[in-house]
Amino acid sequence: MIITIDGPAGSGKSTAAKELAKDLEFDFLDTGAMYRAIGWYALNNSLEQNQELVESLESLELKLDQEKVFINGQDVTGQLRNSAVTEKASLVAIIPQVRECLVKLQREFASGKNIVSEGRDQGTVVFPDADFKFYLTASVKKRAERRLKELSQDEEECCLEEIEKQIRERDNRDSTRDSSPLRIADDAIQIDTSEMVISDVVDKLKNIVRG
Ligand code: DC
Repeated sequence: MIITIDGPAGSGKSTAAKELAKDLEFDFLDTGAMYRAIGWYALNNSLEQNQELVESLESLELKLDQEKVFINGQDVTGQLRNSAVTEKASLVAIIPQVRECLVKLQREFASGKNIVSEGRDQGTVVFPDADFKFYLTASVKKRAERRLKELSQDEEECCLEEIEKQIRERDNRDSTRDSSPLRIADDAIQIDTSEMVISDVVDKLKNIVRG
Protein backbone atom coordinates (compact mmCIF):
# COMPACT_ATOMS: atom_id res chain seq x y z
CA MET A 1 0.00 0.00 0.00
CA ILE A 2 1.19 3.50 -0.79
CA ILE A 3 0.06 6.53 1.22
CA THR A 4 1.19 9.96 0.06
CA ILE A 5 1.26 13.10 2.17
CA ASP A 6 1.98 16.33 0.34
CA GLY A 7 1.84 19.94 1.39
CA PRO A 8 3.91 23.06 2.00
CA ALA A 9 6.70 23.44 4.56
CA GLY A 10 5.47 23.58 8.14
CA SER A 11 2.09 22.00 7.41
CA GLY A 12 3.01 19.21 9.83
CA LYS A 13 3.32 16.61 7.12
CA SER A 14 6.77 15.31 8.10
CA THR A 15 5.86 14.60 11.70
CA ALA A 16 2.44 13.25 10.76
CA ALA A 17 3.88 11.02 8.04
CA LYS A 18 6.55 9.67 10.37
CA GLU A 19 4.04 8.91 13.14
CA LEU A 20 1.55 7.38 10.74
CA ALA A 21 4.22 5.11 9.26
CA LYS A 22 5.27 4.02 12.76
CA ASP A 23 1.69 3.26 13.82
CA LEU A 24 0.91 1.32 10.66
CA GLU A 25 4.36 -0.35 10.66
CA PHE A 26 5.00 1.01 7.16
CA ASP A 27 8.25 2.33 5.74
CA PHE A 28 8.61 6.10 5.74
CA LEU A 29 10.06 8.16 2.91
CA ASP A 30 11.01 11.79 3.55
CA THR A 31 11.52 13.09 0.01
CA GLY A 32 12.28 16.61 1.26
CA ALA A 33 15.39 15.14 2.91
CA MET A 34 16.48 13.90 -0.52
CA TYR A 35 16.22 17.41 -2.03
CA ARG A 36 17.97 18.77 1.04
CA ALA A 37 20.78 16.23 0.58
CA ILE A 38 21.29 17.36 -3.01
CA GLY A 39 21.25 20.98 -1.80
CA TRP A 40 23.83 20.10 0.85
CA TYR A 41 25.99 18.41 -1.78
CA ALA A 42 25.83 21.44 -4.09
CA LEU A 43 26.78 23.80 -1.26
CA ASN A 44 29.60 21.65 0.06
CA ASN A 45 31.13 21.13 -3.34
CA SER A 46 30.64 24.75 -4.43
CA LEU A 47 28.55 23.65 -7.41
CA GLU A 48 27.07 27.02 -8.18
CA GLN A 49 26.03 26.33 -11.74
CA ASN A 50 23.08 23.98 -12.26
CA GLN A 51 24.96 22.26 -15.07
CA GLU A 52 27.83 21.32 -12.73
CA LEU A 53 25.37 19.76 -10.31
CA VAL A 54 23.51 17.91 -13.07
CA GLU A 55 26.80 16.47 -14.36
CA SER A 56 27.73 15.18 -10.93
CA LEU A 57 24.35 13.46 -10.37
CA GLU A 58 25.39 10.35 -12.24
CA SER A 59 28.27 9.56 -9.92
CA LEU A 60 26.47 10.63 -6.77
CA GLU A 61 25.20 7.93 -4.44
CA LEU A 62 22.23 8.94 -2.32
CA LYS A 63 21.01 6.40 0.22
CA LEU A 64 18.24 6.46 2.80
CA ASP A 65 18.44 4.13 5.74
CA GLN A 66 15.62 4.47 8.26
CA GLU A 67 15.74 8.19 9.01
CA LYS A 68 19.36 8.62 8.00
CA VAL A 69 20.55 10.12 4.72
CA PHE A 70 23.90 9.22 3.20
CA ILE A 71 25.68 10.94 0.32
CA ASN A 72 28.56 8.96 -1.14
CA GLY A 73 28.70 7.02 2.12
CA GLN A 74 28.74 10.09 4.39
CA ASP A 75 25.96 10.46 6.93
CA VAL A 76 24.64 14.02 6.34
CA THR A 77 21.39 13.67 8.31
CA GLY A 78 22.35 16.23 10.96
CA GLN A 79 23.33 18.85 8.40
CA LEU A 80 20.16 19.08 6.38
CA ARG A 81 17.92 21.42 8.36
CA ASN A 82 19.85 24.68 8.63
CA SER A 83 18.75 27.78 6.69
CA ALA A 84 21.41 27.58 3.99
CA VAL A 85 20.50 24.00 3.07
CA THR A 86 16.76 24.76 3.33
CA GLU A 87 17.17 27.57 0.82
CA LYS A 88 19.42 25.59 -1.50
CA ALA A 89 17.08 22.56 -1.45
CA SER A 90 14.30 24.73 -2.79
CA LEU A 91 16.59 25.96 -5.58
CA VAL A 92 17.88 22.55 -6.67
CA ALA A 93 14.29 21.23 -6.62
CA ILE A 94 13.59 23.45 -9.64
CA ILE A 95 16.09 21.58 -11.81
CA PRO A 96 14.25 18.96 -13.93
CA GLN A 97 17.22 16.53 -14.01
CA VAL A 98 17.43 16.60 -10.19
CA ARG A 99 13.71 15.80 -9.97
CA GLU A 100 14.00 13.01 -12.55
CA CYS A 101 16.85 11.42 -10.61
CA LEU A 102 15.07 11.64 -7.24
CA VAL A 103 11.68 10.48 -8.56
CA LYS A 104 13.41 7.35 -9.90
CA LEU A 105 15.01 6.72 -6.50
CA GLN A 106 11.70 7.30 -4.72
CA ARG A 107 9.91 4.74 -6.88
CA GLU A 108 12.72 2.25 -6.38
CA PHE A 109 12.57 2.80 -2.62
CA ALA A 110 8.81 2.16 -2.57
CA SER A 111 8.87 -0.89 -4.80
CA GLY A 112 7.23 -3.87 -3.09
CA LYS A 113 6.79 -2.04 0.21
CA ASN A 114 4.04 -0.59 2.32
CA ILE A 115 5.05 3.03 2.50
CA VAL A 116 4.08 6.48 3.72
CA SER A 117 5.79 8.98 1.43
CA GLU A 118 5.81 12.69 2.06
CA GLY A 119 6.79 15.63 -0.09
CA ARG A 120 5.32 18.02 -2.65
CA ASP A 121 4.62 15.81 -5.67
CA GLN A 122 4.10 12.36 -4.21
CA GLY A 123 0.38 12.11 -4.97
CA THR A 124 0.49 14.08 -8.20
CA VAL A 125 3.61 12.84 -10.00
CA VAL A 126 5.55 10.11 -8.21
CA PHE A 127 2.72 7.82 -7.08
CA PRO A 128 -0.40 8.90 -9.02
CA ASP A 129 -2.04 5.53 -8.20
CA ALA A 130 -1.42 5.74 -4.45
CA ASP A 131 -4.04 4.07 -2.26
CA PHE A 132 -4.50 7.17 -0.10
CA LYS A 133 -3.47 10.73 -0.86
CA PHE A 134 -3.44 13.47 1.73
CA TYR A 135 -2.68 17.15 1.34
CA LEU A 136 -1.87 18.97 4.57
CA THR A 137 -1.88 22.71 4.83
CA ALA A 138 -1.77 25.45 7.49
CA SER A 139 -1.68 29.24 7.66
CA VAL A 140 1.66 30.93 6.91
CA LYS A 141 1.72 32.32 10.46
CA LYS A 142 1.29 28.89 12.07
CA ARG A 143 3.87 27.37 9.77
CA ALA A 144 6.37 30.14 10.59
CA GLU A 145 5.80 29.59 14.32
CA ARG A 146 6.50 25.88 13.91
CA ARG A 147 9.66 26.59 11.91
CA LEU A 148 10.86 29.08 14.53
CA LYS A 149 10.49 26.43 17.23
CA GLU A 150 12.47 23.99 15.13
CA LEU A 151 15.22 26.58 14.57
CA SER A 152 15.51 27.64 18.19
CA GLN A 153 16.20 24.02 19.06
CA ASP A 154 19.18 24.32 16.74
CA GLU A 155 20.03 27.65 18.36
CA GLU A 156 19.91 29.45 15.05
CA GLU A 157 18.84 33.06 15.48
CA CYS A 158 15.91 34.36 13.49
CA CYS A 159 12.67 36.22 13.90
CA LEU A 160 9.10 35.34 13.02
CA GLU A 161 8.66 38.04 10.35
CA GLU A 162 11.78 36.91 8.52
CA ILE A 163 10.65 33.28 8.60
CA GLU A 164 7.19 34.23 7.29
CA LYS A 165 8.88 36.05 4.43
CA GLN A 166 11.11 33.05 3.66
CA ILE A 167 8.10 30.71 3.75
CA ARG A 168 6.16 32.91 1.32
CA GLU A 169 9.14 32.98 -1.04
CA ARG A 170 9.60 29.23 -0.83
CA ASP A 171 5.87 28.59 -1.32
CA ASN A 172 5.96 30.77 -4.37
CA ARG A 173 9.00 29.00 -5.80
CA ASP A 174 7.68 25.51 -4.97
CA SER A 175 4.28 26.16 -6.52
CA THR A 176 5.26 28.15 -9.60
CA ARG A 177 8.21 26.09 -10.87
CA ASP A 178 7.69 24.40 -14.25
CA SER A 179 8.75 20.94 -13.15
CA SER A 180 6.27 19.18 -10.80
CA PRO A 181 5.05 22.25 -8.90
CA LEU A 182 3.40 21.85 -5.52
CA ARG A 183 -0.28 21.29 -6.20
CA ILE A 184 -3.18 19.37 -4.74
CA ALA A 185 -3.97 16.07 -6.45
CA ASP A 186 -7.60 15.94 -7.62
CA ASP A 187 -8.24 12.89 -5.47
CA ALA A 188 -6.33 14.06 -2.36
CA ILE A 189 -8.00 14.55 1.00
CA GLN A 190 -7.17 18.04 2.26
CA ILE A 191 -6.60 18.74 5.95
CA ASP A 192 -5.92 22.18 7.45
CA THR A 193 -3.71 21.56 10.49
CA SER A 194 -3.49 25.22 11.67
CA GLU A 195 -5.51 24.55 14.80
CA MET A 196 -4.66 20.89 15.27
CA VAL A 197 -2.06 19.18 17.42
CA ILE A 198 -0.03 16.57 15.61
CA SER A 199 -1.54 13.60 17.46
CA ASP A 200 -4.99 14.65 16.22
CA VAL A 201 -3.70 14.90 12.68
CA VAL A 202 -2.23 11.40 12.91
CA ASP A 203 -5.47 10.02 14.40
CA LYS A 204 -7.44 11.57 11.58
CA LEU A 205 -5.18 10.08 8.92
CA LYS A 206 -5.21 6.69 10.63
CA ASN A 207 -9.00 6.64 10.86
CA ILE A 208 -9.32 7.36 7.16
CA VAL A 209 -6.78 4.69 6.19
CA ARG A 210 -8.32 2.08 8.47
CA GLY A 211 -11.81 3.04 7.31
O1 DC B 1 9.78 19.22 2.94
P1 DC B 1 11.13 19.94 3.02
O2 DC B 1 11.03 21.33 3.58
O3 DC B 1 12.15 19.12 3.74
O4 DC B 1 11.61 20.09 1.49
C1 DC B 1 12.80 20.73 1.15
C2 DC B 1 12.67 21.33 -0.26
O5 DC B 1 12.55 20.30 -1.23
C3 DC B 1 11.46 22.25 -0.46
O6 DC B 1 11.88 23.54 -0.89
C4 DC B 1 10.65 21.64 -1.55
C5 DC B 1 11.49 20.55 -2.12
N1 DC B 1 10.75 19.32 -2.33
C6 DC B 1 10.24 19.09 -3.58
O7 DC B 1 10.35 19.92 -4.46
N2 DC B 1 9.59 17.91 -3.82
C7 DC B 1 9.44 16.99 -2.86
N3 DC B 1 8.82 15.85 -3.13
C8 DC B 1 9.94 17.24 -1.55
C9 DC B 1 10.59 18.43 -1.32
